[in-house]
Amino acid sequence: MHKPSKNISRLVATTAIAASIFAAQAPNVLAVTQPHPDKELNQEAVKKQLQVEGVQQVENGVKLDLSSDQTAFIRLFSEDMAKISILNDGEEEYFSEAIAKKEWDTPSFDVKEQNGEITLTTNEITVKIKKEPFGIKFLDKKGNVINEDYMKNGSGYDGEKPYVYKKTNENEAFYGFGEQGGLEVNQRGESIGMFNTDAYGYQPNTKYLYTSIPFFIGLKNDKAYGIFFDNTNRSYFEMASESDDYYYFYADDGKLNYYFMYGPEIEDVLDSYTNLTGKIDKPAKWTLGLHQSKWEYSAEDIERVAETYREKNIPIDTMHFDIDYMDEYRVFTWSDKFGSEALHQKLDDMNFHKITINDPAVKKDPGYFMYDEGTANDYWAKNPDGTNFVGKVWPGDSMFPDFSKPEVREWWATKHNILFDKGIDGIWNDMNEPAVFDGPYHTMPLDVTFGEGENKRTHAEYHNLYGHDEAEATYKAFEKYKPNTRPFVLTRDMYAGSQRYAALWTGDNVSEWDHLQMSIPMNTNIGLSGVPFVGNDIGGFAGRPDAEMFARWIEVGAFLPFSRIHYDSDKKAEGEKQGQEPWAFGQEVEDISKKYVEMRYKLMPYLYNTFIDASENGTPVQQPLVYQFQEDENTHNISDQFMFGSSMMLAPVVKQGQTERDVYLPEGETWVDYWTGEEYEGGQTIHTNAQLDHLPIYVKKDSMIPTREVQQYTGEKPLENLVLDTYLDEKATYSFYEDDGATLDYKDGEYNITDLVIQRKGKHIEFKTKKQATGYNTALDSYTLKLNGEAAPKKVQAARAKYNQVTSVEEVKSNQESYFYDEENNSLYVNVPADEKHKIKIFFKGNKRK
Ligand code: GLC
Repeated sequence: MHKPSKNISRLVATTAIAASIFAAQAPNVLAVTQPHPDKELNQEAVKKQLQVEGVQQVENGVKLDLSSDQTAFIRLFSEDMAKISILNDGEEEYFSEAIAKKEWDTPSFDVKEQNGEITLTTNEITVKIKKEPFGIKFLDKKGNVINEDYMKNGSGYDGEKPYVYKKTNENEAFYGFGEQGGLEVNQRGESIGMFNTDAYGYQPNTKYLYTSIPFFIGLKNDKAYGIFFDNTNRSYFEMASESDDYYYFYADDGKLNYYFMYGPEIEDVLDSYTNLTGKIDKPAKWTLGLHQSKWEYSAEDIERVAETYREKNIPIDTMHFDIDYMDEYRVFTWSDKFGSEALHQKLDDMNFHKITINDPAVKKDPGYFMYDEGTANDYWAKNPDGTNFVGKVWPGDSMFPDFSKPEVREWWATKHNILFDKGIDGIWNDMNEPAVFDGPYHTMPLDVTFGEGENKRTHAEYHNLYGHDEAEATYKAFEKYKPNTRPFVLTRDMYAGSQRYAALWTGDNVSEWDHLQMSIPMNTNIGLSGVPFVGNDIGGFAGRPDAEMFARWIEVGAFLPFSRIHYDSDKKAEGEKQGQEPWAFGQEVEDISKKYVEMRYKLMPYLYNTFIDASENGTPVQQPLVYQFQEDENTHNISDQFMFGSSMMLAPVVKQGQTERDVYLPEGETWVDYWTGEEYEGGQTIHTNAQLDHLPIYVKKDSMIPTREVQQYTGEKPLENLVLDTYLDEKATYSFYEDDGATLDYKDGEYNITDLVIQRKGKHIEFKTKKQATGYNTALDSYTLKLNGEAAPKKVQAARAKYNQVTSVEEVKSNQESYFYDEENNSLYVNVPADEKHKIKIFFKGNKRK
């Protein structure tokens, strides 16, 4: 199955919408910005074959002398991960800034050489290296080939361009690749490019977007592997776009250097990949609340919008300050209105968190401290002749900090007190492609330089790292000024590994149905690229949504890992001025917004725990179905449904006018309709109604979802009663993590982990809790076990003590050792003290479930 390649469509990415949005403001921008033309591989050059002429064992693998006067290293980093490099004479092996862990304990392995093959074997994988011609095969321990070079072309260099060809067949699916357009999650058939691009108003077929993560997952015969091509130059991935027999990846320049990691589960691949490139921090809880933003909110708007949220009791945590807060777009300054004490005090009093945008470009303006200091210290990116590069961004002629230098990152970090002193809690890094309005292809010329001496790099090589290093500098600001606070950096541009420093939003999307639909494959692939903290501007940034579109978008938006409504300046929007806050579309949409945002806040313990999992195992928060169900082939191409954490599956309406849809329920689970309690066996497609206010949600049977009462902002009320929303078949378990959600004290052991187990034992149900860690001084004093779909109980007891039956949900929640049976909904509520030592036993009248 081939999809039209983005290669071709890139050229015709001039779309009506992008053009019309721009028409009023920027008449010279007729198409989505894309970089200079792709370079292709020379088909003759890639046919040449390399031979292995010498083999030498090294500590963790082998060194090979190749016929091309090049050297290859195949190193085992773990039982199931290998690093492959091919180096030109005199070159050293290489680690880019992506790599968080460079030192690996050598796994035990055997090396053999026979029949023209060198074999490296660990307990998990075998690497077979063919000597003539040179080629690599990876096998699992049963001898199944997981991945192998496509021997007609193999790997090597076409001039400066490193390339690798791999064999594939039509059953192989591909995921990951960071931020990609398109409506399909499976990237098979695609031509993918990696060059960070300010693609305002991009479309599904736009090839180059803001972020480059040259990592992907291949899935064939139920087994997954990952390949990370660690090359920061512009790179290309032709994923069976030319033939079903092979795929290949290459870069404009730089080294041939990639990592192979074996699954077989996608989950294992991601764990390895994030061991290599880093995992996200445990997030501050407030960052998981709702955020609201607009380009060109006035200071009064910010205050009024914040107040309206509170008046209408729509939960929210954060207001964003876009570029207008600065003094004529000079970074690290405040204009009087936005800097006013009164405004900040008001927001603080309403318990808002505050985020300011920050752009890299520093106004060329003698007398302005940033310009003066940066110039005096030689901190700017340079033209090839050694003069400072100057290009236009918001403030006009600007300088670009050379973030590749540690002292520049340090300097940049130091300036953040100017923002933090106003009570700013998070920093939003934008325009860090870097975008240059008057530069070729909307960025700097490729021969601009960064670094000095042996660290000197061209813009071509450094481009994809610019945002990564800026994010690191911003992250350092938190370490400097808020040493015991969890940092929050939001960025538009990433390279592999940037998840260590920042969350990602997917730039200037458009208020179009396609964009709502596209957000699902886009985010889930970003999640499969090591970046779980991701979101899209809810309602679309460019253009304006109508009521229906906003309603559908907030239904999805309330479940995004990063949940922010953000929209473009009114100058760019056509027609009447229109807001993009939940109440801007009439009462019905306001109610829908409130319903789903409240649901997010109710699910906060679950969401937070899902993020904890992400921080420990690299698990995506918004997952494509294939992530948990790779054995079920029907999930491989499902792009309009997703898992929100491990237990909840969402099948949103993402098309105009639709009020019903098909939903695929993956095999191997029983699924419960969250709204009706109806149960379905997995492995089938069902059809469901979905009126405007209805988001179809299905919960995996045997899951326990920790929830709490709704708050207007995340720290409003202590968590005293945790409601365990439980869908029991045989046994459900949950390992509940709790800490202060704000500081780094968890690193000193200030956290709790409680194992919760509920099990059907013959005729009764048993619930027990076990404390695994108790370092955090919790306010949690009881659990409300909410058992969905159960019959009325006869009695509930802990050891000999009988629980009292009460008559309402409110009563049960406020009375420990009580229970309530809600007949209408077949739900049983039991309030269990958090320090209950005994098992809770629930006995039933007829010993039958409903
Ligand atoms: C860029 C950002 C957008 C922001 C605008 C003004 O277009 O992507 O989010 O609002 O700049 O700062």
